[in-house]
Amino acid sequence: MHVIVTGAASGIGRASALRLARRMSVTVADRNGEGARLVASEIEAAGGQALGVEVDVTSRDGVFAMVERARNAFGPVDALFANAGVNRRNPVDQILEADWDLMMATHVKGVFLSCQAVLGEMVARGQGAIVNTSSDFAIMGVAGNATYTAAKTAIYSLTKALACEFTPKGIRVNAVGPGPIDTPLLASGRSPEQHAATMQKFANNLPLGRMGEPDDVAVVVDFLLSEKASYISGQILHPNGGQLMW
Ligand SMILES: NC(=O)c1ccc[n+]([C@@H]2O[C@H](COP(=O)([O-])OP(=O)(O)OC[C@H]3O[C@@H](n4cnc5c(N)ncnc54)[C@H](O)[C@@H]3O)[C@@H](O)[C@H]2O)c1
Repeated sequence: MHVIVTGAASGIGRASALRLARRMSVTVADRNGEGARLVASEIEAAGGQALGVEVDVTSRDGVFAMVERARNAFGPVDALFANAGVNRRNPVDQILEADWDLMMATHVKGVFLSCQAVLGEMVARGQGAIVNTSSDFAIMGVAGNATYTAAKTAIYSLTKALACEFTPKGIRVNAVGPGPIDTPLLASGRSPEQHAATMQKFANNLPLGRMGEPDDVAVVVDFLLSEKASYISGQILHPNGGQLMW
């Protein structure tokens, strides 16, 4: 079995790659090539099979070349975790056009291209499973993060569209919608003091009373990509400490 994980050099992607490596060969894909290769080495050191590949998920040629390298290394792609992401927080009047474009390209186009690059072969084989990383923010209203929330809602919508089109062909497509998870992305754009205060606020307000760890998401991804989830498609599942209930 072979899975591709994008955004796998850090945070949720890294934790998922490490967990999935217990039962599959893993292509560890990230624009941070050195980080991707490091995670691949960690997997190999633990007895698994992995390939670290540098890729920018906003580039169609780059994504298709990455999938080709992955196939050459480990054969057909059985599963995809399309997870690469960035964040830019700003009030609407301060959002730069470049940040809007980056957010849409990384999240929406990145997930679309990653799925498109593996779906043809999955359809030909009549099997496959995909998980795309959305967010609680796909559903919740949030101030100061309009580009990110719009992108995450688009990923949820795209996931449902893909599920409608491809589930009858044997491919399950789902989304994971994490709440606040302690990763570099959550710290980005915040001073150390702001980050510490944000972490404390989340922990105080979440029904489960603690921040999420990357592996809290990885277990859900592992489940959704497994046979245990064989009757689940087109859904969003939220490892979120109870932040959002709907
Ligand atoms: N941390 C949270 O609280 C949280 C909550 C909900 C959703 N998410 C989502 O989870 C996903 C993973 O984020 P994380 O929190 O682990 O952050 P992270 O910063 O630890 O990891 C993100 C990874 O994506 C990679 N990446 C970014 N742009 C890329 C590109 N164009 N091509 C290839 N790789 C690229 C980065 O290099 C990095 O390794 C993201 O989609 C994020 O939006 C995170």
